[in-house]
This record gives sequence, C-alpha cells and structure tokens, in this order.
Amino acid sequence: MRRNSEDGSFEVRRARLDEVGRLAEIESRSSARPWSRRLLEAELRNRHSTVLIADLEGFELAGFLVYWTVVDELHLLNLAVDLDFRRLGAATVLLDAMLSDGGSRKARSVLLEVRQDNLAAKSLYLSYGFRPVGIRPRYYPAEGKDAISMELSL
Ligand SMILES: CC(C)(COP(=O)(O)OP(=O)(O)OC[C@H]1O[C@@H](n2cnc3c(N)ncnc32)[C@H](O)[C@@H]1OP(=O)(O)O)[C@@H](O)C(=O)NCCC(=O)NCCS
Repeated sequence: MRRNSEDGSFEVRRARLDEVGRLAEIESRSSARPWSRRLLEAELRNRHSTVLIADLEGFELAGFLVYWTVVDELHLLNLAVDLDFRRLGAATVLLDAMLSDGGSRKARSVLLEVRQDNLAAKSLYLSYGFRPVGIRPRYYPAEGKDAISMELSL
C-alpha cells in the first residue's frame, strides 16, 4: 500500500545480515539489473562497505544505501527506495546520514555513477550539489545506456 507523509518520519540505521531478503526485494523492484542477494550479502559482510537502511516504524524497511569508504572518498554504489515509499524523503535521510558519516571520517568527496536517463536520481543528486564530471559510455551494457559520473566535494 502506498504510504504518505502522515505515516511518520524515517530512521536510519545500519542494515543487519538477516535483512538481506528485504534488501533484495526492494532492489528487484527498483532496478532493471538488480543486485543479487549474494552480492548484497557480500556488501553486508564487507568491512569497507556501509549499508544503511531507512526504517519507518511499524512498516517494512523502506530503502537502503550502500557506500564504500576509500581513503578520503566515499563511493555511493547503490541507493533504492521501495515503490510504496517513494517521494517521502527516504533517499534524503539516507544521503544525509552518509554525508554526516563522511564528515566525521574527514572524507573530501563523494563519487557515484547514475544512468543518464534516470531523471529521479539525477534530480536528487543535483539537489545535493553533485556535479557531472564525466560520461561512462555503455556503463549499463544490457540496456546500451551511458552513465554520468557525479562528484560532490565535502
Ligand atoms: C531515486 C530514488 C532513490 C529517490 O528516492 P525517494 O525516497 O523517492 O527520494 P526523496 O523522497 O528523498 O526525494 C528527494 C528529492 O529527489 C528528487 N526526486 C525524487 N524522485 C523524483 C522523481 N521521480 N522525479 C523528479 N525528482 C525526484 C526531488 O527533488 C525530491 O524532492 P521533492 O520530493 O521535495 O520534490 C528512488 O526513486 C529509487 O529508488 N529509484 C530506483 C532506484 C534508483 O534509480 N536508484 C539510484 C541509482 S544511482
């Protein structure tokens, strides 16, 4: 069922390994080439990786964000919000939490790739001040689509 802003506000916390099934479900509803359950589990076990989730009390978790910390850079690898919870600010609280963590780790920048025709995600990243820094041709080979590399200086 579609949620609305009356339902409350999201809390962000690190994902647990036993939540991998729900992450895989959200991912499969969000991407044409979803990450597999095995890949998600590998990220949950990877000490360089942080997997955050946005939780709305009383509901299934709404979305997740995966990033790596590489020296003084954060690499945003995945961000997905389940269809029923979109446009309620889940991605915003997840990005805010990542940036706050990056600030405390003294990170200098955040890097990501986004599909060129992904208007929702591009609009979200632009609103945070990410700027396009390059094109990666056919980064999504199955769809024959390019990616835009984006960077945010912290
Ligand atoms: C992109 C995505 C993560 C946004 O999640 P969300 O929780 O709905 O985003 P938020 O509610 O925090 O939106 C924040 C802002 O992003 C922008 N935005 C989000 N969805 C948008 C859309 N469909 N169209 C245009 N702008 C959009 C808006 O500026 C929005 O602010 P507003 O609602 O006040 O106008 C979600 O649509 C999604 O999971 N998409 C599929 C997976 C994906 O593309 N991931 C990104 C991979 S790089």
